[in-house]
Amino acid sequence: MTQAARAPRVFSGIQPSGGLTLGNYLGALKRFVETQNEGVETLYCLVDLHAITVWQEPEALRHATRAMAAGFIAAGIDPQRSILFNQSQVSAHAELAWIFNCVARMGWLSRMTQFKDKAGKHRENASVGLFAYPSLMAADILAYHATHVPVGEDQKQHLELTREIAIKFNHDFGVDFFPLVEPVIEGTATRVMSLRDGTKKMSKSDPSDMTRINLTDDADTISLKIRKARTDPEPLPETAEGLEDRPEARNLVNIFAALSDRNVESVLADYAGRGFGEFKPALAELAVARLSPINAEMNRLLQDTAEIDRLLGWGAERADVIARPILERVYDIVGMVRSRPGRPV
Ligand code: TYM
Repeated sequence: MTQAARAPRVFSGIQPSGGLTLGNYLGALKRFVETQNEGVETLYCLVDLHAITVWQEPEALRHATRAMAAGFIAAGIDPQRSILFNQSQVSAHAELAWIFNCVARMGWLSRMTQFKDKAGKHRENASVGLFAYPSLMAADILAYHATHVPVGEDQKQHLELTREIAIKFNHDFGVDFFPLVEPVIEGTATRVMSLRDGTKKMSKSDPSDMTRINLTDDADTISLKIRKARTDPEPLPETAEGLEDRPEARNLVNIFAALSDRNVESVLADYAGRGFGEFKPALAELAVARLSPINAEMNRLLQDTAEIDRLLGWGAERADVIARPILERVYDIVGMVRSRPGRPV
């Protein structure tokens, strides 16, 4: 099937290593909900196998996976309309990743900036999984023949690698089997920055909690973090160009725009000429109004972890129905003997 003939199928994933940040919410989750609500087929995956590429306490990982599932549902993911599941429950991901480990080249993976950042100076001590991380990510996407992948800016390089893997697989085996995925990196919040340093990405792994807003923060904490956010002494400009050399100011305006579903120009039309003494309280009020209901619903859902586990299991069953026949085709293309009865090829 050619891509043009196929209905769009959207896939994306988030690592359940710690909680959801405002960066995850605006760069990914909020857009996942919007895409689902457009009526497109959507699969959303909590990538627990990716999470363990760096050390995770088993109990903390289990809790984070359930909390993230609750966060997704609280933010508007409907487990009926979207397929919501955790990666380790669908073995096609790990199986296809192995095949892609044999397609991807060491040189390609060595160039990945996320590996360089995460491995730091101690590359020899990084797990093999951290190095092979992008093969598993390519498997996540290609196991479903997904056509579109909504992500934040930082995942662009991994998606380019996914395309490289698909091209090389198709070329090596002389097939037109894997589609070339389209990264969907859109909106005003594809790169939400740290509240303390406008040149660094907001990240759940930053040692300082003051750099980020977590979806689990209460109203007072959100207000405090915004009040303490680094800014400059200038008033807000009239146009977006006026924010160019002001990373902290630009970040707060982008966050305001994304949270209020407006563009930057429209936010500046309201706040041009005003200082942060006025802008920050308005932003804090908006952030609390948008995030507090999600937080409250998430806590409510987390009271019943059995129900969350049931929903993830149901999502995994539906995901498996799509991925298994694609994987069986891959085994066939690669030349594996598959002789157990009942396996669809
Ligand atoms: P992860 O868990 O680091 O982040 C999940 C999603 O949130 C986005 N994001 C941000 N967006 C804007 N500003 C920020 N500060 C910010 N921080 C995070 C990320 O871009 C991402 O979209 N490798 C992926 C997970 C993954 C995946 C996949 C994604 C595994 N398999 C298949 C898509 C398709 C990751 O580490 O995301």
